[in-house]
Amino acid sequence: MTILDGKKVSNDIKEEIAEHVKAMVSKGEKVPHLAAVLVGSDGASMTYVNAKVKACERIGFNSTLIELPEYTSEEALLEKINELNINDDIDGFIVQLPLPDQIDEQKVLMAIDPDKDVDGFHPVNVGRMALDLPTFLPATPYGILELLERYQVETSGKNVVVMGRSHIVGRPMSILMSQKRKAGDATVTVVHSRTKNLAEITKQADIIVAAIGISEFLTGDMVKEDVVVIDVGITRVPDATKKNGYRLAGDVDFKSVSKKASFITPVPGGVGPMTIAMLLKNTLLARERHG
Ligand code: GUN
Repeated sequence: MTILDGKKVSNDIKEEIAEHVKAMVSKGEKVPHLAAVLVGSDGASMTYVNAKVKACERIGFNSTLIELPEYTSEEALLEKINELNINDDIDGFIVQLPLPDQIDEQKVLMAIDPDKDVDGFHPVNVGRMALDLPTFLPATPYGILELLERYQVETSGKNVVVMGRSHIVGRPMSILMSQKRKAGDATVTVVHSRTKNLAEITKQADIIVAAIGISEFLTGDMVKEDVVVIDVGITRVPDATKKNGYRLAGDVDFKSVSKKASFITPVPGGVGPMTIAMLLKNTLLARERHG
């Protein structure tokens, strides 16, 4: 069994980007600048956004963190997005999800200039992805493709089961892995909360991408020998033995599934760090495209 070490691979990618940035600086070029908008103070979102900003600093990007209060109106957020759209100093930006209830997420995503949409969530970029045109690939699916590729996991002709149909992970993952591309060319099945005989389907899978948001849902009896397992889930589970009162759990029961798997991602240290690395890669791409 091989651990798909997202922490290590993401560090390799960040080093590659840092080298690129050094070359940009020596040529007197502008370095990439990422802005992140965080509305409210959700603990997990704050952790993710801070990790993204810190990663920028480490590799030599400029970064701006915009923190808005929980009660921010949709109008005020749209105004902030417009400012970022027209600010030539910003190459790309993200609005961390989820947003508070008073704000319409779709409206917000549609307000972002597609050329600065380094999360790849704007409908134009989702369409470009679906048509296999140049775009910003959403960072989590992009990170999974990169991880599979760097570990040379064969995907062509394999049965892939994507668990979950979210706009951020499950849906784009299923599209990308069915395309004729590196880490693609697979036969993809999407399963979700209404799927019947779910375990019968997962047992047929050569590769499983678990992104349903239910901790430790996929267990050893639901998979076949030598399965490749990608765990996208990350949930805080109460744990009195931990100093902070919780532990992080994935959508996969690592203990039982890892006994059968040929490759598996850990949580934490699997998909999460890859997401950040690919966001940085998209920001570099945005800088290069803006010329
Ligand atoms: N919330 C969970 N994942 C993501 C992500 O990749 N980007 C943004 N903006 N919000 C998220």
